[in-house]
Amino acid sequence: MHPKVAPLLSGTKVIPVLVIENADDAQPLAQCLVDNGLPVLEVTLRSDAAFRAIEIIASQVQGAVIGVGSILTEMQLNSAQSAGGWFGVSPGVSEKLMRALELNDWPFLPGASTLSEIMTLRDAGFKEQKLFPANIAGGVPMLRAISGPVSDVTFCPTGGIKPDNADDYLAESNVFAIGGSWIASPDLIFARDWHEIGRRAREAASLGMQWRTAV
Ligand code: 3PG
Repeated sequence: MHPKVAPLLSGTKVIPVLVIENADDAQPLAQCLVDNGLPVLEVTLRSDAAFRAIEIIASQVQGAVIGVGSILTEMQLNSAQSAGGWFGVSPGVSEKLMRALELNDWPFLPGASTLSEIMTLRDAGFKEQKLFPANIAGGVPMLRAISGPVSDVTFCPTGGIKPDNADDYLAESNVFAIGGSWIASPDLIFARDWHEIGRRAREAASLGMQWRTAV
């Protein structure tokens, strides 16, 4: 793993993807995930409350490793850092975002869904990437197909991952972790159902146990 992301992501197998609509939910939600074995979170910028939620988690939830997801622009990149995010995540890459990343030392997990994007990011030094949307991009067969030609890039597939296919992804040698919204889905967050989110987090934290030392 790249030294910039290794301290944050090594050992992590499952990253919950969060859309937090109400900043008041940020602390209990993040605390619930940390307490139930999932300290690495991706808080997406897909809600108005996202930056406030990141600030709250950064200041109130010990042990939370805050990834900020859905970063599309340089402005979002800078705001995500200022809000207290530990690392950034994007669904894909644009030339502008690539230029901003070149000037920025923040740990970053960029998204890709084609071999050309994967190679472009690899050239820029990103050996850990988010494969998104994983199931539509080609899923496990795609990961298997690219493991030969691009053998030094590992992925966090996200998009369409659920408990019933999670282990299939985690079994691939070029997958270091998976991400998904199923653990703390928007309806469960809206209902403030920390009990069910905690149960799903514990279940997710036990996924891929057999591969934990492999990647
Ligand atoms: C993301 O932003 O990474 C996705 O919305 C997560 O995909 P999922 O909802 O299919 O898990």
